[in-house]
Amino acid sequence: MQILFLGAPGAGKGTQCKRLARHLALPHLSSGDLLREAVKAATPAGLAAKSYMDKGILVPDPILIDMFREKLYTPECSKGFILDGFPRNVAQARNLDGLLEELNRKLSAVINMQVDDRLLSERITGRRVCSNKECNAPYHIKFAPPKADSACDLCGASIIRRSDDREDLVVQRLKTYNEETAPLIEYYDKRLLLRTVDGDGDPDEIFADLLRTLQVLA
Ligand code: AP5
Repeated sequence: MQILFLGAPGAGKGTQCKRLARHLALPHLSSGDLLREAVKAATPAGLAAKSYMDKGILVPDPILIDMFREKLYTPECSKGFILDGFPRNVAQARNLDGLLEELNRKLSAVINMQVDDRLLSERITGRRVCSNKECNAPYHIKFAPPKADSACDLCGASIIRRSDDREDLVVQRLKTYNEETAPLIEYYDKRLLLRTVDGDGDPDEIFADLLRTLQVLA
């Protein structure tokens, strides 16, 4: 299966993609995680991306396109993959179309995680993540706090706050999403791939709904 997730910042894409990746034993390719790893490793792509991420705007297309081209050609993606955060505009979507054609693959479904804008700010500013990149478990100070104060339940590594999860950046991130990424809803709807999942509610119920939508047995 080749599944793509769309949704505003904080809609719960990462949370649900991680579960789905475990359930289907498919790699979860998150553009944000790949960019943050590149920033941390100070690669040329990471150094170029950082200033855009710090402003809540899109990183230039060639950086993402190269990153995903490299990933999609790896053997770990040969049985399928879950794309989270790429594509993020129509130019990237067209590029992905070409890349999938080269690989002789098709998208199985595009999931649009829908959440009311009013909920997103609280989700983003309260988000915490495990600092261990192999684990990367998501937390939230109110909705999904770790059992111990600042250690990951799964691996014990410290819990950190993303540098772009600031109140003052939320408005810009939502503006970027509405202007550049939201048009992809129509792009994939026209191709009859779009499936909308309500991202407001209990994460377990959302996951069950997601599996029903994908017609995969829980
Ligand atoms: P990225 O890391 O992709 O951030 P994003 O799209 O803004 O999405 P988020 O990670 O903020 O949200 P999410 O939907 O994954 O929510 P999550 O599950 O964590 O991108 C960061 C930056 O990189 C961009 O701003 C841009 O600069 C750059 N970039 C990335 N891709 C790019 C591209 N293709 N092109 C150009 N630039 C690109 O959940 C959020 C919180 O809510 C968590 O705390 C979670 O615990 C909680 N939560 C989740 N579900 C629920 C629920 N049901 N109820 C209550 N709380 C919940």
